[in-house]
Amino acid sequence: MKVVKTVPELNRLLAPLRADDKSIGLVPTMGSLHEGHLSLVAAARADNDIVVMSVFVNPTQFAPDEDFEAYPRDLEQDIQLAAEAGVDVIFAPLTDEVYPPGFSTFIEVAGAETAGLCAASRPGHFRGVTTVVAILLDLVRPTRAYFGQKDAQQLAVIRRMAIDLALPAEIVGCPIVRDPDGLALSSRNAYLSATERAAALVLYRSLQAAREAIESGQHSRDKIIALVERLIAAEPLAEVQYVEARDAAGLVAPPTLTGETLIAAAARFGTARLIDNIIVEIKET
Ligand code: PAJ
Repeated sequence: MKVVKTVPELNRLLAPLRADDKSIGLVPTMGSLHEGHLSLVAAARADNDIVVMSVFVNPTQFAPDEDFEAYPRDLEQDIQLAAEAGVDVIFAPLTDEVYPPGFSTFIEVAGAETAGLCAASRPGHFRGVTTVVAILLDLVRPTRAYFGQKDAQQLAVIRRMAIDLALPAEIVGCPIVRDPDGLALSSRNAYLSATERAAALVLYRSLQAAREAIESGQHSRDKIIALVERLIAAEPLAEVQYVEARDAAGLVAPPTLTGETLIAAAARFGTARLIDNIIVEIKET
């Protein structure tokens, strides 16, 4: 596995592969790798000749009061895990490689995909995500790029951008990887104390309760949201940020839920802000 830090080095490595028509899978990450990230590598490995992983803690997607400085970073360990998982190239650029001096061009999705959910409490977040992902796609020019359903809104926003800008890469969504007790893996789980981690299980449990309610015939968006809010709020260590129920593809919010439906929630447990979601298929009644 090669580790490159600059765009010229990346181009030197990729140019002959492109000339040879090799398929390239890109896995964009902010490092602090866990099994969730590595599941994207496995998917990319299965579909492509070459797997490139970017490791870049992207400053433009953090608001000034967020955890950009504190975000866990351990490139040496990431390199080891990525190599074991079969990554061929790690692109770990310094900020100036991605954002040249004087940088002032941003990409912003302005549809239902960026209305509410995480966008409400993280102004500017998705603009930072779409901007960096567009730059990474342009630098690497992959055949396919892999993103986790864990960040369901991010995936929907990136799919929208790729369609609207006719980006050549295929955007591939991958299922959420969870610990055996249901907690979705996240780099931010490192912020949790043992008691907070136990409390955080309420997220997935509440989403499962929403699934059961839907399967028992409750299709009112308001009622499903209220149910999940009440269940999370019953956990004293949880501070609910939002609960949402939306059409999974376009993230529109119909009063009566139907088709592929995303149920998503965000809550704080101590200093950690965690998100989780499930997709429920609601048949027409
Ligand atoms: P990061 O949080 O490092 O996540 C990188 C990728 O791993 C994302 O596509 C995310 O959805 C996926 N992922 C994280 N936890 C997962 C889990 N438990 N199961 C499956 N996939 C999981 O998301 C970002 O970085 C950034 O916003 C990025 C897209 C790299 C742009 O900066």
